[in-house]
Amino acid sequence: MRLIYEKSQSGRRASAIPRHDGLPAAEVPEELRRSEPPRLPEVHELELVRHFTELSQRNFGIDTGFYPLGSCTMKYNPRVNERIVALPGFAHLHPLQEEEGIQGALELEWRLQEILAEVTGLHSVSLQPAAGSQGELTGLMLVRAYFEERGESEQRRKVVIPDTAHGTNPASVTMAGYEVTHVKTDPRGNIDIDDLREKVDEHTAALMLTNPSTLGLFDENIAEISEIFHGAGALMYYDGANLNAVCGISRPGDMGFDIVHINLHKTFSQPHGGGGPGGGPIAVREVLDPYLPVPAVIRRDDGTFGLDFDRPKSIGKVRGYTGPFGVFVRSYAYIRMYGPRLREMSETAVLNANYMLARLKDVYDLPYDRLCMHEFVLSARGLKRDYGATALDVAKRLMDYDFHPPTVYFPLVVPEALMIEPTETEAKETLDAFCDAMLEIAREAASDPELLKKAPHHRPVGRLDEVRAAKQPIVKYGFDVHPDLSGERRPVTAEAPKGA
Ligand SMILES: Cc1ncc(COP(=O)(O)O)c(C=O)c1O
Repeated sequence: MRLIYEKSQSGRRASAIPRHDGLPAAEVPEELRRSEPPRLPEVHELELVRHFTELSQRNFGIDTGFYPLGSCTMKYNPRVNERIVALPGFAHLHPLQEEEGIQGALELEWRLQEILAEVTGLHSVSLQPAAGSQGELTGLMLVRAYFEERGESEQRRKVVIPDTAHGTNPASVTMAGYEVTHVKTDPRGNIDIDDLREKVDEHTAALMLTNPSTLGLFDENIAEISEIFHGAGALMYYDGANLNAVCGISRPGDMGFDIVHINLHKTFSQPHGGGGPGGGPIAVREVLDPYLPVPAVIRRDDGTFGLDFDRPKSIGKVRGYTGPFGVFVRSYAYIRMYGPRLREMSETAVLNANYMLARLKDVYDLPYDRLCMHEFVLSARGLKRDYGATALDVAKRLMDYDFHPPTVYFPLVVPEALMIEPTETEAKETLDAFCDAMLEIAREAASDPELLKKAPHHRPVGRLDEVRAAKQPIVKYGFDVHPDLSGERRPVTAEAPKGA
């Protein structure tokens, strides 16, 4: 497909503006004037519309097909959410409006906080963080504030993280000024308790754990783990990225966790990925409430709602205003649609994952042979050993079958990992079609491995050099060589940024 600049023809316009004879010329101050007009592609309107429509159709999203990206929980965002968030009373709000004029919005936020406290089994919630990773950092700042007040912040420098953790966990720990202590995974996919006991002591500030883990497995020793940490005076942090598996079934607070972040965009439906909006509220035990970010959204004794800035122990603000409001409206709408049946959401997600696991586990390797939660991790190591076909080859070939690939090469403890998460919103026919494709690809690996190695064959873009794309990203179009205004067409190239 040609770039829009390559379609440019000098003098072509998308619209004709009526002549403005008689009107005074616009007075643009000299310093704001350009020495030459901006270099824009010159195309007519139909060409413009076709160009961008075609580009949009090359995109892949949950609205166009099955998107089983493990750990990312790419669930469908019901259209009713969009209708509700676009209601003028929500869409036209301004964050600096007086409290009296935004009572409805504050009530929605307060209600969402109450629901999330109930779902997590904890006491207080701040909706402020903008994403799971920011929730992690915020939670660790609370850990620091908690130990500072106890005079233990110098002593407690370590945060324990299992080797299955998502990359944001160690990144957040380091950003928060703590040291990462890794703990191993045992042969059943749980935290290795013996390894853990050796690593937790009076220098430990917290555990950071995703449960179910990124292997899609619920840790069978969670009560014992909680005793070990609380026994050492440390806190328990729950990475709630996988909360979709347990809503209404088990609660992090009941498992012993003190702080939880919730990825609203994974559990309570939001468009996400590719920079889409997200939300990473945190829920905490009562003892940590005083440190939560300001302002807190509160309900006063007279039943009105307001913003409380008077929290002297607060860690301060982590994001503008009270957080990403449109995200809250969508999540609130989604939760209210389920109402008291919320656990059906998680039960269906878990059922869907186990159904697919049962269909695939005889053909792909299963490193931890247990019932899974809402996602599961297979390995393509057998295909690699026997036919030279890797997890990446399987993923690329899936695109030819019109499926978004699952997560690959994560978690790191599984070689040739394929991490599959169907979510609750997919029909059985879709799950079957995906499993059929996976089984067919395994047959292709045996009969014609080159077919996989060169895949995808039927997409707009073939196999990319991903290492080069990561190491030499070309992120801007080469303006100095695009067609100039004289209409002369010169070769068009894209440039790597300097120093790449
Ligand atoms: C297990 C886990 N933890 C944390 C995160 C970070 O969440 P976010 O992408 O909202 O920053 C993710 C995101 O994929 C995740 O899968």
